[in-house]
Amino acid sequence: MSLLITNIGELTTHAGPVLSDAALVVEKGRVAWVGAAAHAPATDEVIDAAGRAVIPGFVDSHAHLVFAGDRAAEFAARMAGAPYTGGGIRTTVAATRGASDEELRANVARLSREMLRQGSTTIEIKSGYGLDVPTEARSLRIAGEFTPETTYLGAHVVPAGCDPDAYTRLVCDEMLAAAAPHARWVDVFCERGAFDEEQSRAVLTAGINAGLLPRIHANQLSAGGGVRLAVELGAASADHCTHLDPADIDALASSSTVATLLPGAEFSTRSPYPDARALIDAGATVALATDCNPGSSYTSSMPFCLALAVREMRMTPAEALWSATAGGAAALRRDDIGHLGVGARADVVMLDAPSYLHLAYRPGVPLVKSVLLNGELVK
Ligand code: NIG
Ligand code: FE
Repeated sequence: MSLLITNIGELTTHAGPVLSDAALVVEKGRVAWVGAAAHAPATDEVIDAAGRAVIPGFVDSHAHLVFAGDRAAEFAARMAGAPYTGGGIRTTVAATRGASDEELRANVARLSREMLRQGSTTIEIKSGYGLDVPTEARSLRIAGEFTPETTYLGAHVVPAGCDPDAYTRLVCDEMLAAAAPHARWVDVFCERGAFDEEQSRAVLTAGINAGLLPRIHANQLSAGGGVRLAVELGAASADHCTHLDPADIDALASSSTVATLLPGAEFSTRSPYPDARALIDAGATVALATDCNPGSSYTSSMPFCLALAVREMRMTPAEALWSATAGGAAALRRDDIGHLGVGARADVVMLDAPSYLHLAYRPGVPLVKSVLLNGELVK
């Protein structure tokens, strides 16, 4: 079965120049051909894009979807002037521990459906609202029903009443053993009030020794050693990067660690945005992701984050689109997604717009018209 998408007004593949009057052929879930619509081969089925823009599916490389409850009241308090400290994580932990598997699964299903309908064809999902051995393990088991990109974040915060060093040992030993069979990645919230540099190194090293790949919540609320630790350990990504000094930027620029920026978090916590321009101009690889979670960033929308990146972080629309697709793929160390070169997975988004520029130019407008996931039309 082959499928032709033709009359594409503007086709962005990231594997060559942006094409106009283009076409793309999908076969066996992969991109099989890309070129001028006038030269497209015959196929079994045809979709007429009628001049619309086509882009790669978004890769949302940072999301916390396994939780129960919400924290709308905390958001309202912040908008009335209260600061964000991460302390609300413990509220979600209590609700998550009390939820059944079915309740947690239904919440992940709802959010991942929202994401897909907004064009996210790959999502990463973290644990981190269980913070005990059984809840972390079941969080990851449920996450794995929705994505292969599952991340063990037992080191999110120290649960109330626990000794920080004793809890860090639990995260590195018994909890890791229960989590590792269901996880691809290990993550830690390296931050004042969460885990310090030494504890973070211990968590990531234990994860690496158990066969997991490292990524890290770094430099979100304050400056610190998180980014440099990420680079030292060869982490795929350092996420947030809100408070960086020039040495952090140099370290990222001369490494393969992606700087994943999460502007939904700054938006929803009314905080200063990360300096995307300094990172890009220094040569760092930048990704954009939602950070979807009930506390600091309850958005499932990559188009919204892309618009924030352009308006608030001075990324060009082209840079923001690349970071939301190919950048996310780099942050997950994947080369089969995030682009539409021949051989890529056929994760394709058609916009109800003539150009991807409209993603930032028309913020808040539901522009995702159709989505192909692995070559199958899912929207
Ligand atoms: O990425 N920084 C730590 N974790 C989340 C927030 C979690 C929460 O507030 O529930 C984040 O922003
Ligand atoms: Fe996060």
